[in-house]
Amino acid sequence: MEVIIRPTTETATELTAQLIAEKVKQKPSLCLGLATGCTMEKVYDKLANKHQKGLDFSLIRTYNLDEYIGLSPENPNSYRYYMNKHLFNRINVNLCNTHLPLGTAEDLELECKLYEESIKNSGGIDLQLLGIGRSGHIGFNEPLSALSSRTRDKALTPVTVAQNSPLFDPPESMPKRAFTMGVGTILEAEQVIMLVTGKEKAEILAKAVEGPITSMISATALQLHSNCTVIVDEAAAANLQGTDYYRWIFENEPKWEPYR
Ligand code: F6R
Repeated sequence: MEVIIRPTTETATELTAQLIAEKVKQKPSLCLGLATGCTMEKVYDKLANKHQKGLDFSLIRTYNLDEYIGLSPENPNSYRYYMNKHLFNRINVNLCNTHLPLGTAEDLELECKLYEESIKNSGGIDLQLLGIGRSGHIGFNEPLSALSSRTRDKALTPVTVAQNSPLFDPPESMPKRAFTMGVGTILEAEQVIMLVTGKEKAEILAKAVEGPITSMISATALQLHSNCTVIVDEAAAANLQGTDYYRWIFENEPKWEPYR
């Protein structure tokens, strides 16, 4: 795992978007794992800007981490709606190549099985983008999610409901269950980038990156991944112990030179 500290949310987000853009240029048919949430909105703004300047997304394939159970794609609170609005409708991706579990699927188990099969048949995820929730979740892998878990439906914790329900009107209408890729599914991605910004994430980030691996904080499982970069701003880095070393890496490793 590498931790890269950038001075501001803006620079952390820009670095994340730059790394994704580089990957798309290197492999136009990139299979991209995507996240939703407030943190990602800024990344998608930047990717949309890069598309305006010529970045071609026509061949990419995407798989999102999660979707609320019970919400149709047309529901403004569904993650399908979010993705169309914040990214897909702003770039030249072929919508047929974008995938999220269907929130209104009748057979939940079958939906999860088909999602896993689809990821596998696509050749697997090349680059998975992640945020972290206040409960330490990645995707909606709430505390005690097995580190080997696969796509399934999961009950959301009160912490996650408190984090996301203000986006619903009324807040009580937020679904209490969601489909999520499993921790095991996420760990199979070839490369992972987790973007974490803001002081309210400082405590959980330090536990996720520097604490012991535990299913109580599913993001700690990323310590098992051999190609995982965690990009943070100064505010989110506030509780980290190893910041001198992380800063040294960014300033001295040749691979980071183009981004300094
Ligand atoms: C959503 C997802 C979640 C979010 C996390 C942070 O698809 O994967 O794990 O990344 O809840 O959300 P924000 O960025 O809103 O704080």
